Amino acid sequence: MERLSVFGLLLAILCAITSKYGSYGDTKFSNCSKNDLEALINFQNGLEDPENRLSSWKGSNCCQWRGIDCDNSTGAVVSIDLRNPFPVNSDSSSSTNPLNSELPDWLVNISTLVHFDLSNCNLFGRIPLGFGELPNLQYFSLAGNDNLSASCSQLFRGSWKMIRYINLASNRLHGKLPSSIGNMSFLTNFDLSMNNVGGGIPSSIGKLCKLKEFDLFGNNLTGSLPEFLEGTDNCVSNSPLPNLMYLRLSNNHLQGKLPDWLGQLGNLVELDLSYNQFQGPIPASLGNLQNLTIMSLEGNEINGTLPESFGNLSELSTLDVSVNHLTAGILFPMLMLAIRKPWSNAYFNFLDRIVDKLLWVKNKRS
Ligand SMILES: *[C@@H]1O[C@H](CO)[C@@H](O)[C@H](O)[C@H]1NC(C)=O
Ligand SMILES: *[C@@H]1O[C@H](CO)[C@@H](O)[C@H](O)[C@H]1NC(C)=O
Ligand SMILES: *[C@@H]1O[C@H](CO)[C@@H](O)[C@H](O)[C@H]1NC(C)=O
Ligand SMILES: *[C@@H]1O[C@H](CO)[C@@H](O)[C@H](O)[C@H]1NC(C)=O
Ligand SMILES: *[C@@H]1O[C@H](CO)[C@@H](O)[C@H](O)[C@H]1NC(C)=O
Ligand SMILES: *[C@@H]1O[C@H](CO)[C@@H](O)[C@H](O)[C@H]1NC(C)=O
Ligand SMILES: *[C@@H]1O[C@H](CO)[C@@H](O)[C@H](O)[C@H]1NC(C)=O
Ligand SMILES: *[C@@H]1O[C@H](CO)[C@@H](O)[C@H](O)[C@H]1NC(C)=O
Ligand SMILES: *[C@@H]1O[C@H](CO)[C@@H](O)[C@H](O)[C@H]1NC(C)=O
Repeated sequence: MERLSVFGLLLAILCAITSKYGSYGDTKFSNCSKNDLEALINFQNGLEDPENRLSSWKGSNCCQWRGIDCDNSTGAVVSIDLRNPFPVNSDSSSSTNPLNSELPDWLVNISTLVHFDLSNCNLFGRIPLGFGELPNLQYFSLAGNDNLSASCSQLFRGSWKMIRYINLASNRLHGKLPSSIGNMSFLTNFDLSMNNVGGGIPSSIGKLCKLKEFDLFGNNLTGSLPEFLEGTDNCVSNSPLPNLMYLRLSNNHLQGKLPDWLGQLGNLVELDLSYNQFQGPIPASLGNLQNLTIMSLEGNEINGTLPESFGNLSELSTLDVSVNHLTAGILFPMLMLAIRKPWSNAYFNFLDRIVDKLLWVKNKRS
């Protein structure tokens, strides 16, 4: 069930974003370039396509093929969008889109690519590293293929200057995130959840002034969160990650203290650090996050009490700090919160058992 809801969310995000990239102009005037045509035919030859989704992939003008968009003046292919709207594992098997293929290295010969989306297509094998060198690529999704692998340190090492959107969730990525991701200055969405990414989070992410979503839940991350973020004075607002709304790092092996910069992420809506090995106190600065709606810190080794500043979290609707080493302390912040905005969900369990569980249940979570 967890899996399905994650896919549902991915899908919603994909649909929302791809609707902006509808068409790159009037394709009937353009003629596909010979090199792009060869690369696509090479790709098509490796596909199974049992449902004949690529029946329009005939003739020499690939600009008229389904899922392909060209620059109308040059005929260069700028978009390949064959995403399957249905997750591979969903029940609606009649509507799945199994291309059951590897991604050929030659696909990256289409150097004019701006938009590439082959999510949920049952692709396997390696992600060609050349994708990380495509100079114009802005949107890159291979989410939900389950079986695609790549080394993060190689794929993200390069000159991916224009990239805005990366979604490789639910695959088999491994290796460490290189500090060069801090050079992707246009990056807004970075989703590598449900992979096998190891190592730590580079402090260079502080340079990503436009980043809205940073998702790495369900990986093999280790070490502490960086104590300080790099280059936070690059951004107009001078605060770290000024546009970050979603930070999800749950289900990893992260440890150490929660850094103070978390409390400076003024636009944060969701903070999910659950099921790691974080220790020490909850920074009082988290009480500054005026837009925070969901805070999940459960399943760590956090001790101390809830900071009084939590009384200021007026948008919070879900707070889960259960399965930690917290003591109840004073209940003032919780009462303040409950008065300001009744929570839908709140979960505690305290070592001193003064209060084992407080629940304000509006929408019961299963
Ligand atoms: C498009 O290019 C192909 C060769 O790649 C050529 O055979 C065909 O005539 C061209 N079509 C148009 C309408 O220019
Ligand atoms: C891709 O580019 C390489 C190197 O430029 C070239 O050798 C190869 O023939 C190209 N493949 C296709 C299918 O265009
Ligand atoms: C390409 O499309 C744009 C917008 O649709 C249009 O203004 C332009 O004239 C087209 N160029 C060519 C060469 O057809
Ligand atoms: C895909 O994953 C399955 C196990 O989940 C594995 O047996 C198979 O070898 C993988 N296929 C490829 C091509 O990696
Ligand atoms: C990031 O870009 C800067 C400037 O282009 C360069 O000096 C630096 O080496 C790059 N960092 C990494 C880790 O690639
Ligand atoms: C996770 O990382 C550790 C080292 O940090 C490694 O020993 C372990 O094999 C990794 N787990 C998986 C599933 O790759
Ligand atoms: C919080 O949300 C509001 C409205 O959604 C927005 O205007 C504001 O910029 C956000 N950020 C902060 C720091 O309040
Ligand atoms: C919290 O745990 C740390 C060790 O992880 C310990 O040094 C500290 O004294 C503990 N604080 C409280 C309030 O229990
Ligand atoms: C709550 O916010 C108010 C106004 O921003 C501030 O004066 C107060 O110190 C805050 N309370 C706590 C406990 O942080």
